[in-house]
Amino acid sequence: MPKSPLARMLIYGAIATAILLPISLSIDWFPKQASKSAHQIDTLYDVLLIVSVPIFVLVMTVAIYSVIRFRARPGDTGDGPPIHGNARLEVVWVVIPFLLVSSLATYAWITLHDIEKKKRGEMIVHVTGQQFEWSYRYTASGGRTVQSNTLYLPVNKPVKFEINTKDVIHSFWIPQFRLKSDAVPGITTNWRATPDRLGRYEVVCTELCGAGHSLMRSTVYVVPEQTFTAWLNKQAGPATGPGLGKQLFAQNGCSGCHTLAAAGATGKVGPDLDRVVQDAARYAKGQPAATYIRQSIVTPNAFVVPGFPRSTMPQTFGKQLTAQQISALVQFLIQSGGGKKK
Ligand code: CUA
Repeated sequence: MPKSPLARMLIYGAIATAILLPISLSIDWFPKQASKSAHQIDTLYDVLLIVSVPIFVLVMTVAIYSVIRFRARPGDTGDGPPIHGNARLEVVWVVIPFLLVSSLATYAWITLHDIEKKKRGEMIVHVTGQQFEWSYRYTASGGRTVQSNTLYLPVNKPVKFEINTKDVIHSFWIPQFRLKSDAVPGITTNWRATPDRLGRYEVVCTELCGAGHSLMRSTVYVVPEQTFTAWLNKQAGPATGPGLGKQLFAQNGCSGCHTLAAAGATGKVGPDLDRVVQDAARYAKGQPAATYIRQSIVTPNAFVVPGFPRSTMPQTFGKQLTAQQISALVQFLIQSGGGKKK
């Protein structure tokens, strides 16, 4: 063992670190990881442990060693000579902590920035807090709205939560996803996560919000994408009106031949449906646009827009589609086919 107290303290510190650091890293600090950001956050936490445990242990070693080794003994008459200033030591103890803390802050900032940035194809879920329950709002196909008190999420799909409150401040927290965000009256706060583990987890309100705060919990189910879609459609109920019309437009191959911005269709074989309402006014004077459009679907050869071939439009939609489906298609075309002037 070296004689110098400084060398001894360093050796004791190194031994204590070698024992305590593995212990600190092997402790299960957090619940299960169920989102992509959970992995990033837990790694950040491990790095913080790796940096801070040796420093804490070394400081404690120096303190304990000094208390024992340099304690007052019988016959000690007082303090030694006072020490005045040590520029080199002061620079060292300012510069090293500064470098450590600023590098950790930079790493944490990069991690947070990565978690919070907009992801491709993210789904939006509106979260509303109120004393004392959570509710979730989704947009299903055809623009239908789904409201639920249970949170369902498809696995591996990025989600952006838009968080509001109807009354006081609440805080939206799913421990297995890490991160949480306050719900603040008057503003919308955001929170992003990509669930990556199937399962059932708890949503917790983590801001004291009144007598029922501790009961303000709900459940999140992370499910396969197909299960999620089936759930969402079931909640939305059967489609009607223009929403159903949009679905039928896609399902029946209308986009193959027609242009219609609202359906993302760019076909050029048949008339441009972005101007179908104008065409109706032009070719079917005195008749409502709905009559013109219905006739064009059910008996297309009764009138063909000049410049387009006869009998190219299938003659069978009148038999294939129910009356309700045809009405929905007509509504969709009137709603979306008259807005754009060309
Ligand atoms: Cu809401 Cu606590």
